[in-house]
Amino acid sequence: MTVLRTPELLAELASTAASLARSVGGVIRELRDAGVSIADTKTSLTDVVTHADREAERLLKAGLQELRPQDGILGEEGTSIEGTSGITWVVDPIDGTVNYLYQLPVYAVSVAATVADPSFAADGRRAIAGAVYLPVTDELYVATEGGGATLNGTALPGSAAVPLSRALVATGFGYTVERRTEQAEVVRQLIPRLRDIRRIGCASADLCMLAAGRLDAYYERGLQPWDYAAGLLIAREAGALVLGRGDAAPGEPLLVAAAPGLARELHAAVIAAYAQWERSSEGAGDAAAD
Ligand code: IPD
Repeated sequence: MTVLRTPELLAELASTAASLARSVGGVIRELRDAGVSIADTKTSLTDVVTHADREAERLLKAGLQELRPQDGILGEEGTSIEGTSGITWVVDPIDGTVNYLYQLPVYAVSVAATVADPSFAADGRRAIAGAVYLPVTDELYVATEGGGATLNGTALPGSAAVPLSRALVATGFGYTVERRTEQAEVVRQLIPRLRDIRRIGCASADLCMLAAGRLDAYYERGLQPWDYAAGLLIAREAGALVLGRGDAAPGEPLLVAAAPGLARELHAAVIAAYAQWERSSEGAGDAAAD
């Protein structure tokens, strides 16, 4: 279904995303102060779900169903509701769950309104409005398609293009041993070529900090739609170029984001590092088989 993206609709969606992200962010901060408890694990023993993740997703779902009952919802903790409007909300109730568990201050609520568009992201959805809220620092990032991105109401400048050798680059690691091994190998190849690496632990915050000019670039493989939906829009609206694997749209196979010149340079370096890793792991497999 085609969604007519009028300025009024985009403003309404952004306001819904912002108010829910902020209110649920306040709740998860209070829950964190009261003490955190693990409800379950997912892809590995270190990939945890807290009771607060579930409560936050319940609140986001209830809020969206009240304000936008015709829309679909997709949430990290299992919410999957088909809508009739052509708009699907993609929500991460706590992005940075491990930071949350350890009381590290960077965790976020991420809320994005999306429409179907395979050219925008690998999951086939385009965020048209979104918000990311970091409760500890009380930072609310908001963007609408074509309307720019803001931090607490002030327009975001984006990051300036610097050469790769001077770039402060954030990345992240997945939860399985296989994914982490491959990611560590890629970082090992890249780090001598950069200013430094940051592993902040919250993909939506990585993308927002790029939008705020606090990082020069960000890349990661293995992200899920709720990790990047709102942050990708915020980074793009602040001027970042966001690339995927090869010519494909960014998303789970790869997401590289930076000011345009740097994004292309980093993209080439990441692709080359993965190719080198694939060759060496095939070689190691052949040697083991001999
Ligand atoms: C994770 C964080 C992390 C990124 C992982 C994500 P979660 O999300 O965003 O920074 O490296 O890929 O899975 O599990 O904290 O919601």
